Amino acid sequence: MNIKIKSADEIIKMRSAGHAAMKVLKMIEPSVRAGITTDELNTICHDYIVNDLKAIPAPLNYQGFPKSICTSLNHVICHGIPSERKLKKSDIINIDVTVIKDGYHGDCSKMFGVGKVGVLEQRLMRVSHECMVKGIEMVKPGVSLGDIGHAIQVHAEKNGFSIVREYCGHGIGKDFHESPQVLHYGTPGTGLVLQEGMTFTIEPMVNAGRKEARILADGWTVVTRDHKASAQWEHTVLVTKDGYEALTCLPGDEL
Ligand code: MF3
Ligand code: CO
Ligand code: CO
Repeated sequence: MNIKIKSADEIIKMRSAGHAAMKVLKMIEPSVRAGITTDELNTICHDYIVNDLKAIPAPLNYQGFPKSICTSLNHVICHGIPSERKLKKSDIINIDVTVIKDGYHGDCSKMFGVGKVGVLEQRLMRVSHECMVKGIEMVKPGVSLGDIGHAIQVHAEKNGFSIVREYCGHGIGKDFHESPQVLHYGTPGTGLVLQEGMTFTIEPMVNAGRKEARILADGWTVVTRDHKASAQWEHTVLVTKDGYEALTCLPGDEL
């Protein structure tokens, strides 16, 4: 477990990569409409990342992943592959964007509802966002990863939802996935104690039903075993002297 503490110069590059990743999510929002395919969303994001941001879409060819973003619909937990599937009213979709800018990664994702979304799905999207925010707001030197995971888990379960165990947040920097693993469940006062200069993601996956997951035959798409809906939000976070900075949050925006 080698956790890289980022220098001031590296933090500037991480912030630039983080802002670029969030710009992609902002850019794509008006296109997330009934009738568009997830592959069309992928193409729009890819072209924007390469041509406008002069950055690299990190997922493309990452361990063989075939596309530039992840699109995870309804009961897909994460790592959905953009395809010919058209969005339709009442779908919920997570779009996960990771870019490499000047050698550093920025990783973030958010949920979108297509047209009018069911009451349960709306609540799932809201509660999963609250889980991420509660986790991020705890970040400061001296706090442990177990404290953060516990707070996220308690909030999800209090609302009758479950936390996916097989996937977690991660250190991030020159590499897409660095140490430590950031679990979205846990026991207070256990695990790594945060220090200034650490950078990692917080990206809870919250299931409407049971926590169990399985991977489809494509080797990537992770779905809920009970086929109930799942939602996820993600930011890249820096531990500062006395708190946190969400590196994928644009100036003036809320988490
Ligand atoms: N962006 C995802 C994460 O949050 C990882 C996607 S890996 C890919 O860690 F290969 F599926 F793109
Ligand atoms: Co991530
Ligand atoms: Co991501």
